[in-house]
Amino acid sequence: MVLPEIRKRVAALKRERNAIILAHNYQREEVQELADYTGDSFELSRIAAESEARVIVLCGVYFMAESAAVLAPDKTVLLPEKDAGCPLADMVTPEKLRYYRKMYPGAAVATYINSPAAVKAESDICVTSANAVAVVNSLAAGQVIFVPDGNLAHFVSTQTDKEIIPWPGYCITHYRITVKDLENARRSYPDAPVIVHPECRPEVVESADAALGTGGMIRFVKETKAAAVVVGTEKGMLSRLRRERPDLKFHLLSPGLFCPGMKYTTAEKIIASLEKMQNRITVTPEIRKGAAESLRRMLESTPGAGSDGGDHRCRRAE
Ligand code: 13P
Repeated sequence: MVLPEIRKRVAALKRERNAIILAHNYQREEVQELADYTGDSFELSRIAAESEARVIVLCGVYFMAESAAVLAPDKTVLLPEKDAGCPLADMVTPEKLRYYRKMYPGAAVATYINSPAAVKAESDICVTSANAVAVVNSLAAGQVIFVPDGNLAHFVSTQTDKEIIPWPGYCITHYRITVKDLENARRSYPDAPVIVHPECRPEVVESADAALGTGGMIRFVKETKAAAVVVGTEKGMLSRLRRERPDLKFHLLSPGLFCPGMKYTTAEKIIASLEKMQNRITVTPEIRKGAAESLRRMLESTPGAGSDGGDHRCRRAE
């Protein structure tokens, strides 16, 4: 619970700076409590693009703040903790992507939003977990290089006729979940549906009841008639889900589902970033131009992905 004096200080700074606070669903509870919007990667990028505030405080990891800077070039984007990184995003570089493009000259490049802006700038379109299948299916090319998450690439390949060329990247947090964890959860909570993020290994996704991005998980939980849900993603998600459905029990699928980059941000760091206007995230005009095109193509190709998901693959309705 955020202390009233911290809440007051943040409200005063927001007024003074004309700022909004956006937080990812994995953020600490105190950060989610202070945020104007808490959402998935797709929702955060859409809100950043549409916001009328002068300053955007992005409580998430570096690539999210970079996407906001690309989509809202006239605004100041602050990342409260400058070292909040995403190891998955660091698994691809523009140089390596250029090499892949040469190997598959006819292929389109669909790039997961968890990537550097410089890679987005060299891509045809971006995707998030909420719209990856719909975006790939919307492409004219029959062959698609999917960057940088190999597990999400595999998930997409099971739901499209396109030939998917996966990049060998992975999320170090979701990678920890094994089928054994799933079997244990089924034994411990036999009536609870198991929902996992599509960044999980293919065999985990295959054994789960639904593979959903964090926005899709919230919609699933809002609608479920089950009394408990097993959740296979970063542990911060449980705070968000408990807020949505305080009447349900939530169990984390595996211990240690912790993304360090997502946990660096605190209430104190939000205050410091707004007081000193520090940790501004910028991109060069050249990178911005290409990255903005890839992100805008995504936003235009699936404008409603935040509400209808496009990521649902549920076996059990409850
Ligand atoms: P979502 O877009 O589903 O919120 O996922 C973001 C992320 O970083 C998952 O690891």
